[in-house]
Formats: sequence, structure tokens, C-alpha cells
Amino acid sequence: MGARHPPEHRPDGVRTGRAGGPRGGGRPLSERLMTMLPASALPTLEFPSGPSPFPFPVPAGATAPARKKVHVNATAEAPPYGRILRLEELLEAACVREDDVERVLFLATHQSCEIFFAVVLRHLQDVREALDAGDGFLAARRAAPLPVIFRTLVGQFDGLATLTPAAFEAIRTALGEASGFQSAQFREIEYLCGLRDTRFLNTAGFSAAERERLRTRLEERSVQEAYRDYTAGGPDREAADAARRALLDFDEAMALWRARHAVLAERFLGGTAGTAGSDGASYLWAAARRRVLPEVWAELA
Ligand code: HEM
Repeated sequence: MGARHPPEHRPDGVRTGRAGGPRGGGRPLSERLMTMLPASALPTLEFPSGPSPFPFPVPAGATAPARKKVHVNATAEAPPYGRILRLEELLEAACVREDDVERVLFLATHQSCEIFFAVVLRHLQDVREALDAGDGFLAARRAAPLPVIFRTLVGQFDGLATLTPAAFEAIRTALGEASGFQSAQFREIEYLCGLRDTRFLNTAGFSAAERERLRTRLEERSVQEAYRDYTAGGPDREAADAARRALLDFDEAMALWRARHAVLAERFLGGTAGTAGSDGASYLWAAARRRVLPEVWAELA
């Protein structure tokens, strides 16, 4: 057990403001925030002269001494946060303004997954390039965020699990035959890696453009082929180990995403069919056995 400290002090000396009267001693929040910051946190910011860039006045003394300069809107041309992220268009496209708040959660979660599927595809392309260039360390670096992304997406399933059965049922009825099964990007991930079941090309609901993208993926070199050639070329042992570990971490995280998805489907559907007409949870449990990079696993056998 750690040592106990009086409630008004933390071990690092930061005052919590609990002792001696009302919380914060009646001082404005801005002042309290500044005193709660350790002194070392302040010099990393140099405030421009003129009005405070923060939504509260910056007390005198918080400006000096600067060790590192952070430019706050350094040039007139530098676009602000919202424009860089194209938030207006993004939120216009996001299903966050629907009336039913549970439907908002359901749809926005799917949209967020699709954004991350696109990010995963970008990284996988770079992994393939790095392997083709014979750089196992770079391949490992490019693959490193992938399991983290999939774990984040698993967390999003936890959010959907908070829906009530009645809310889910209402959403599902409105979905008709629409399903994540029609996620072309998810199939692209499988195809780009090397798991290439061409039956999915005929998935009902794919647009002509999506089908075309999938066909292109089938013609492309897969990550697995790139990995196979890389290892056959007698690479540096340490670099090859790093690449293999990173790819396994990714495939493992994807398998766990699939399993969490199956559990979620079981929670809402029981033994009934999915909206795309599959066997529902039991289809997803079977899909959870799929590995997108089977040859990387086979090395362990
Ligand atoms: C309550 C939430 C969810 C339920 C009950 C559910 C259920 C299902 C079911 C039953 C299937 C099988 C196909 C079918 O018959 O419809 C499926 C497939 C799929 N779903 Fe979901 N899903 C949910 C959330 C999500 C989310 C948030 C995503 C993220 C994009 C997603 C992506 C997918 C994908 C990619 C497939 C195809 C999997 C494969 O074929 O291996 N699902 N889902």
C-alpha cells in the first residue's frame, strides 16, 4: 500500500484546494488551473502578445521563460483546426443529427469503423511497400498502429452493447437488408492481406465502384506475398522477427475484433439470422476462425 497523504496535497506537491474553506478558495477557475499546472509545463508555451489565446485570461508570469516555441496560429494563412479536419463536411456526412439518439450511436459507430478501415488500408499498403523494399523494421513500424486500431474498434462494440434490446430491434427493423457484411473496405483489408475469397465479390449491395475496387485488390500483390518474398530473401534476423511479430499482433487483434463482434451479435440476435441473411452469430463465430495472414501464423507451427 502506498503512503497516505493529507487530502489537500498530492505527493508531487500539487495543491488540490480542498483544505481551508470552499474548493479553490473562491479563486476563478483560470487562476486555479494555472496554479495546478507544474511549473515545468508552462515554459513549453510562448503566448503571443495581445489577447490570451485561451478562453480565460492568462495571469502575468505564465509567459516566461520559453524553452520551446509553440506557434499559435503562426501565419494568417494557417488553416484552423476545424478547417484542417474539414469538420463541417465531416459532421454533415456523419449520422449524428438524427432524432433517435440510439440510432445515432449505432450509425456513427459504423462510420467511425469505416474511417479506421480506410486508415488500416493505407498502413497495409505501406507495410507491403516496406517489405518489398526489404525493410523489415519499417514494415514493423507501419504495422504497429494496426492492432491498436482494432482494439479501439473492439471498444466501440462495448458502446453498442449498451443499446437496449428494444432500441436495437427498432434500428434493425429500419436497416432492412443492410449489414456490415456489405463493408467493401473490410473485404479490401482481407484481400489486400491475402485472404481472398472471391465469392464476396458477389455480395448483394456492393456498388459498381466497390466491386471494381475489390477486383483491383485481387490483382494487386498481397501483404502475405510481399512477406513471403521478403523472408525468402534471407533478411536480417532481427528485422524479420520485428516484422513477423508486428504482423502477428495485427492478425491477432483482428481475430479478437471478430470474436467480440460475434459475442455482440449473439447478445442481440441470439440464434436468429443477420440482416444480410447469414446465420447471424454462428456465421460470425465461423468467420472468427479466419486469419488474414495465415502464412505468418504457419511459421509458428
Ligand atoms: C449491434 C451491433 C452489430 C450487430 C448485431 C452485427 C451483426 C452482424 C451480423 C449478424 C453479421 C453477419 C452478416 C449478416 O447476416 O448480417 C455481420 C457482419 C459484419 N459486420 Fe456487424 N454487427 C454489428 C456491428 C458492426 C459494426 C459496428 C461494424 C463495423 C463496421 C460491423 C461490421 C461488420 C462486418 C465487416 C461484417 C462482415 C464480417 C465477415 O463476413 O467476416 N458490424 N454483423
